[in-house]
Amino acid sequence: MSLVKGSAVTQEQLVEWRRYLHMNPELSYQEANTSQFVYETLKSFPHLEVSRPTKYSVMARLIGKKSGKVLAIRADMDALAIQEENSFEFISQKPGVMHACGHDGHTATLLGAAKELSQRKDEIQGEVRFLFQHAEEIFPGGAQEMVDAGVMEGVDYVIGAHLWSPIEVGKIGIVYGTAMAAPDVFTITVSGKGGHGGMPHETIDSIAIGTQIVSNLQQIVSRNTNPFEPLVVSVTQFHAGTAYNVIPDNAVISGTIRSMRHELRKQTAGRIEQIVKGITEAHGASYSCEFEYGYRPVVNTDSVTERIEQTAMKLFGRDKVVRCPPTMGGEDFSAYLQKAPGCFFFIGARNEEKGIVYPHHHPRFTIDEDALSIGKSLFVQAAFDILKDGSVE
Ligand code: NI
Repeated sequence: MSLVKGSAVTQEQLVEWRRYLHMNPELSYQEANTSQFVYETLKSFPHLEVSRPTKYSVMARLIGKKSGKVLAIRADMDALAIQEENSFEFISQKPGVMHACGHDGHTATLLGAAKELSQRKDEIQGEVRFLFQHAEEIFPGGAQEMVDAGVMEGVDYVIGAHLWSPIEVGKIGIVYGTAMAAPDVFTITVSGKGGHGGMPHETIDSIAIGTQIVSNLQQIVSRNTNPFEPLVVSVTQFHAGTAYNVIPDNAVISGTIRSMRHELRKQTAGRIEQIVKGITEAHGASYSCEFEYGYRPVVNTDSVTERIEQTAMKLFGRDKVVRCPPTMGGEDFSAYLQKAPGCFFFIGARNEEKGIVYPHHHPRFTIDEDALSIGKSLFVQAAFDILKDGSVE
């Protein structure tokens, strides 16, 4: 007997769902059509209890024949505000909105797993709960909203995956421990005294002060942080001025802090404020510093990660499973991991020969659609393996 019965869901079916979603992308917190499509598709499968935990999310519960533990599997469904530059026939039909992160593929993959598992209900020991989540891309994120709506009640394990362009199609990427960073945001306003560009001595130049802040922020990673501890402080926006001959009153500087440890987030925010305070005071300006703490870091549980790794090796071969370094990207999957042990892993989606090489969030991003069947098979087999005899501790 083969490990996975391939008859239930075909590659063509997965591709059809993915392309429909790709052509009809919706931004975070606006997934009305997407969630309705998912809801109706799930309704057409047998044995599922389908519900809407929040306005734009969908949950389906599949209770197996034998009692046991509960495994939740999550897919995110939202797109990005990017104008697609691909030229294939199923490009986005919505100007300025694009599935440029692969969430269309996540949704199709999990629909496939739900369909296949619903047809193999009698083999399931326990419950599989399918979570179709809205708004992963924008803080505060749909995951926390779904957790607050109770989707994790009674859940023993949670898994999720990202189709991943840095990894070649056919491979599965596994990370033990901390897999993804906490993405925090800072906004600094430097308030000086505007005036004539030709008479700088009568002004307090917010631009000159702001640039010193930008260069001093580089000290935090290079000189204040243990080199063995990952941290990023990136200035990504600097807004000031309206004319070539006017020194502006204010400069607004913002960016992102990425870290893997909760205490370091606070510490870094503290250092930023110290630097801003010192520099503005030295030059007679005033300031404000605002911090928005984003998603928690994604920390995988060893036991569940090991089970996913073993299942992937069994399905695809040892050489197809790679250990990955953590990434400084953020993911609100961490909200589920506050409630149950679990694992977030990566499904290779890159194919150099087919020209599928663009990074996530790029206007020419796409995935090798072969990854859809691979992801579907892994979710299905992982559901059996994780729930079997309640054996993951
Ligand atoms: Ni994504």
